Amino acid sequence: MISKKMETALNGQINAELYSAYLYLSMEAYFESENLPGFAKWMRAQTQEEVTHAMKIYDFVNERGDRVTLKSIEQPPTKWKSPLDAFEAVYRHEQKVTGLINKLMDLAIKGKDHAANTFLQWFVNEQVEEESSVDTVLQELKRAEGAAGAMFMIDRELGQRVFTPPATAGEE
Ligand SMILES: [Fe+2]
Ligand SMILES: [Fe+2]
Repeated sequence: MISKKMETALNGQINAELYSAYLYLSMEAYFESENLPGFAKWMRAQTQEEVTHAMKIYDFVNERGDRVTLKSIEQPPTKWKSPLDAFEAVYRHEQKVTGLINKLMDLAIKGKDHAANTFLQWFVNEQVEEESSVDTVLQELKRAEGAAGAMFMIDRELGQRVFTPPATAGEE
């Protein structure tokens, strides 16, 4: 019974990761429309990263002999008031995802699902990194207070982010 619960929960997390990708892709489009190519590039890398998260879970579900079932992905917002507003939304979203990962972990512990527990540990650590890197940008944006020069610098800095795809599926 507990394994069925885990299957459902992991499928839910695939959806949450794909929604994250969708949200960040929408933010990329927003930043493009605001002529902030560096922010847009950062969001593209973020989107690609979220897709790899979804695929990691997808592969894990299959490896366990469980069944992946895809549900519809909610429409993300399309507009934000400012780059700061967008990054505040990113931060809130990542905190929400951290909560979801923690709930999955609780389920793994409760069900003595050691494989899921080990698998989910990567995500627990990843969320710490995600929240921290988003918070760094958020603090820079707060300090910039929308000043053109500072925004230009942040845009240039964010534009240096490169997405590195995982070497092989299921690695780490
Ligand atoms: Fe993720
Ligand atoms: Fe994320």
